[in-house]
Amino acid sequence: MNNSYDSVGRYIDLLKKVLTASIYDESGWAVKDPNNKNAVLNQLKKKNLYLVEAKVFNEAERAEGRDWPLFGYTMAGHQRLDNVQLCVEQVIKNNIPGDFVETGSWRGGMTIFMRALLDVYGVSDRFVWVADSFEGLPVPADENDGLDLSQVDYLKVSLEQVKANFEKFNLLDDQVKFLKGWFADTLPTAPIKDIAILRLDGDLYSSTMDSLENLYPKVSKGGFVIVDDYNSWPACKRAVTEYLAAHSIIPDIQKIDWTAVYWQV
Ligand SMILES: C[S@@+](CC[C@H](N)C(=O)[O-])C[C@H]1O[C@@H](n2cnc3c(N)ncnc32)[C@H](O)[C@@H]1O
Repeated sequence: MNNSYDSVGRYIDLLKKVLTASIYDESGWAVKDPNNKNAVLNQLKKKNLYLVEAKVFNEAERAEGRDWPLFGYTMAGHQRLDNVQLCVEQVIKNNIPGDFVETGSWRGGMTIFMRALLDVYGVSDRFVWVADSFEGLPVPADENDGLDLSQVDYLKVSLEQVKANFEKFNLLDDQVKFLKGWFADTLPTAPIKDIAILRLDGDLYSSTMDSLENLYPKVSKGGFVIVDDYNSWPACKRAVTEYLAAHSIIPDIQKIDWTAVYWQV
């Protein structure tokens, strides 16, 4: 594997900038009221009219995935993309068997990046699985499940849109598999064999627990588990803690940034 700053390195860097929308003069622009709280703005949205604040781009904030990008393909930020690159390169180098899975893909950016890395390293025997409702978050089961973001339009990205996003990068092919529906319905019967990288980004307790219960047993020894919301969503952390305790797993949890963590299985 060549880590020098050659054309491959430049392609990967450019991908990170485009996927996070960090490369434009307008990168900092933000839609007002993304959570649909303002009645007037909500009415305007129904006519496809948005109020956009021309904010100055804060590179550090985007690198840490702290803001919701207006036109990026991932909200996870550079540090979490760097982490995915590290995990992908490790599993390829060490021949850890299995596919790459993300539960909670939004616009697909993280999985587009995974598919691009398989392409870069000429790997044709692994799949990238993109699991999402493709209609946003579910209504939380109860107050312990986490925040109710089920009405947030910004988080609702259709399967057609995500496929179109892959196509924009010329990365939509048979190595990308989509699992459309609620995790509780799709994951128990998902035809995934081994997993080398399991990336959880479903925010809620239930979404995290459904992902862990159905997919953690498939993660290969030496594979990686990444939890995006660990330190930003207490309900997510609780699901991870309970799952690990129930299965007597004591991983070496490493910090990626202010919220995300990962460990090697
Ligand atoms: C924070 S976004 C994911 C961000 C994405 N990983 C990125 O890199 O930008 C959370 C996603 O999880 C999905 N989601 C959450 N809970 C779900 C569930 N129980 N079943 C299906 N999809 C779910 C939502 O539809 C949404 O697309």
